[in-house]
Formats: sequence, C-alpha cells, structure tokens
Amino acid sequence: MRLATPTDVATLGIPGQDPRGFQILEGSAGDRAIDMTNLRRQTGLVALDYGYNNTASCESAITYLNGEKGVLLYRGYPVEELAEKSRFVEVAYLLVNGHMPNEKEREDWSMQLNRHALLHEDMRHFFSHFPDGAHPMAMLSAMVVSLSTFYPELSQNQHHVGDEAIDKAAARLLSKLRTIAAFSYKKSIGEPVVYPRHDLRYVANFLNMMFSSPVRPYEIRPEVVKALNVLFIVHADHEQNCSTSAVRLVGSARVNLYAAVAAGICALWGPLHGGANQMVIEMAEEMAAQGMSPKEKIERVKNSKGAELLYGFGHRVYKTYDPRAKIVKKACDDLFRALDVHDPLLDMLRELEERALADDFFRERHLYPNVDFYSGIIYRAIGIPKEMFTVMFALGRLPGWIAHWKEALEDPRFKLQRPRQLYVGPGLRHLAPDEVVRADRAAVLDAR
Ligand code: ACO
Repeated sequence: MRLATPTDVATLGIPGQDPRGFQILEGSAGDRAIDMTNLRRQTGLVALDYGYNNTASCESAITYLNGEKGVLLYRGYPVEELAEKSRFVEVAYLLVNGHMPNEKEREDWSMQLNRHALLHEDMRHFFSHFPDGAHPMAMLSAMVVSLSTFYPELSQNQHHVGDEAIDKAAARLLSKLRTIAAFSYKKSIGEPVVYPRHDLRYVANFLNMMFSSPVRPYEIRPEVVKALNVLFIVHADHEQNCSTSAVRLVGSARVNLYAAVAAGICALWGPLHGGANQMVIEMAEEMAAQGMSPKEKIERVKNSKGAELLYGFGHRVYKTYDPRAKIVKKACDDLFRALDVHDPLLDMLRELEERALADDFFRERHLYPNVDFYSGIIYRAIGIPKEMFTVMFALGRLPGWIAHWKEALEDPRFKLQRPRQLYVGPGLRHLAPDEVVRADRAAVLDAR
C-alpha cells in the first residue's frame, strides 16, 4: 500500500516540558496530518477529540473526499463518472480490488456473485422466527453474523486466512446480502421468498426477488435498474464514516468479516447516519399529515435549538453540496420522468431544499442536502417500503466495508483500536458500612 510522505515537523510546546517535534505527513492528494501516534509516549498526554473531528484513524488508498470542494473519488475515479458509466458490481470490484475489472475479471466476478447468491436452506428458516414487524436492519445484521456459523473458515485468526478465502468471502457476502435483504422484505410482508435467478444481473435479480410473486409477475424496468445502480454506486464507499469506522474498529479485534460487517450494519441503522433516508420520508409524511408547509417546517427547525432536525441535511465532512446528493437528485428527476409518476412528497422535499438553501440559518452552518435527502423518494417510487431504505443503503455500502476491512488487515500497522479517555469520575473511595450487604442477608439473596 502507498504510504504518506513525511514533510515538515510540527512542534508542540507543553508547559514544563521541552518542545517536542511531531512528523507532518502528506497524503497523495495534498492533505496533511500530524502523526500523533507517539504523543502519549513522548509527553504523557493524550489527544481529546470528540466525534473524531480532527482525527485520522489510518492511511487509506480507497476513497478520497474533499468536503470543502465537494469532491469524491473511488480509487481515484470521480463518483460522477462511475455513476454515469459503470455498473455497481464493477464499482464493487474496483473498491475491493483497487482497479476496474478487465473483461475476464468482470466475467469471473459475475460468475462468483451468481454462484454464491443462494442462502443455505437452514438460514432461510431463521426468517420465520423473527416476530412480525421486525425491522429489516435487525434481521440483516443478525443474518450476516449468522453467516459465520455456516462459513467458519474465516472465523479463526485472520492472519492465518489466505487472500483467496478473503476474496471468496467478499463475493459470497456481496451476493448473499442482496438475497438476505430481499428475503427479509418478503418475510415482513408475509409472502414466500423468491429465489435468485442465474440469468439476471445483480440489480435486476434483486428487484425480481423483492417484487415478483407466484400470483403477481413483476416487470423489471431498465429505468429502475439504472436508478438503483446509481444509488448503489453513490453509497458504495465514503472513507471513514461511522459504519465503516465501526467495521474497522470491530475488525481490529480480528473478528471475521461477517461479524465486522454486522457491526457496520448496526451503526448504519442510526438516524444520524444511514437511517436518515427513512427519517426524511417520515418527516415529509408527518408534514403532509399535519398540513405543515415547508416554510413552517423550516421555521420550526430553526427555533428548536437543535431539537428538531431537517433530516437529509448537513454532513460532518461536506461543507458544501454533497456531490452524491447532486447525482441522486438527477437520478430522481430522470426516474420520475421515465415512470411518468408524481409524488406530492417530492414537491415538498424540493421546496424544503429551496427554502433551506436560501436561509441564513442553514447557510451560516453550511448545511446542504446530503445523500439521504432524495434517495428515499426514489426507493418509494420503486415500491420499496421505508423500513427497507437503510437496508438499501447497506447493500450499496457493503463493497466499501469489505474494502476497508481488507485494507486494514493488510496493513502491518493495523493495531487493536482502543481509544483513551479523560477520566472525570469520582476519586478513590471505599464502601461505607451501609453499602455492604451483611453476610446473613447475602446468603438469603444468593438462595433466590
Ligand atoms: N437540521 C438542522 N440543524 C442542523 C442539521 C440539520 N439537519 N444538521 C446540523 N445542524 C445544526 C446543529 O444543530 C448545529 O447548530 P448549532 O451550531 O447552532 O449548535 C450545527 O448545525 C452544526 O451541527 P453539528 O451537529 O455539530 O454537526 P455534525 O457534523 O456533528 O453533524 C450530522 C452532522 C450528524 C449529519 C448532522 O448534520 C445531522 O444530524 N443531520 C441530520 C441527519 C442526517 O441527515 N444524517 C445523514 C448524514 S449523511 C450519512 O451519514 C449517510
């Protein structure tokens, strides 16, 4: 892997200590970082950084993101170009393997994805034991971690697993996650599952498993396949985001790929992260139900002192328009035109965006639409229920999680991730007599 270049040295002056030098490293796109790896060893102090706003947890060669300029590159390729000219499975290959597949690699990759599409029949039975109304994200993470019981070859210490086993597990997971997602949807609506088909490509296969049924044929429309391909591509990686960091952190304990990805799925579920796509549509539905106009909503958000959010707006890293949101907005316009459909919630979202972008509150805080603002409305047009939106995000993000897990394991500097803290609790104290259970009372309690 390519390593950052040492440049200058930053000097840190701590009262009572001689000034210490810390190496400044420059990445391949010109970003600079102070290497603080030895901060504690050299000074006895730790760095405190809430939300890791200023902390780079690793060097990575997968995705480049510039939040000020709105740039997003996967392995050097602009996401706009990939969304326009590639298919999701090729982008998945690119992220995991570092280069676009040639003809033969594309064939092999498709074959592998096809070969692993089926679930073990015993796994299929798991679905019948989740309660009605179980959230598909809960099912998804549970099923993914269960894969490690069926494919235990990756469950030992990762250092002893060869590249081939890791590549196979990556293809298996990419393929099976799609099947698990579709099966969990079928379970949630009480319909029998539809098996994957070898004659269909990745996205078409998914749509068929989701929407066809013995009594209701489903027409796979190319416009829908295109929109989903674009959505999966723009979600495919986003460097050290919350769920990817979860995958790396859990993976640093050397758990298997399935366990690490299950952790990523759980992190993605949260409304501040991937769960925001569901929240956007719920927010719009609530506005419609209450007869609340976009103007009123914006005022409520502004007056709430942070208690009420405009979901789908704002981003930790982007301080300009999220380039993915631009792509998704165009994909949304294209799809609605092609399907010749109208959704009043889309009108509402467009007006919310327009008003927010013109408002000082949002401008001063650099709040722009993020990838989640228009993605839910596309899923809705396709017929995907809102509980499944974050599952769709997970399907898209999976190649990124796999790529980061793999990159981390290949890096000899990949240590157990274990942050420090600044303790602010009570000082040393001892149990008072009334805090200790008497021996005779303890015997009674133990007997219960
Ligand atoms: N609506 C209203 N106000 C907002 C929003 C929003 N969506 N996002 C941030 N703000 C405000 C905050 O209240 C804060 O205001 P203050 O300075 O007056 O206290 C200011 O903007 C800065 O916000 P922070 O929360 O400090 O910024 P942070 O980088 O921690 O938050 C986050 C990023 C979590 C994404 C935030 O913008 C948010 O909650 N957005 C809504 C949820 C969402 O859409 N999440 C998806 C993000 S994309 C993804 O993960 C796939």
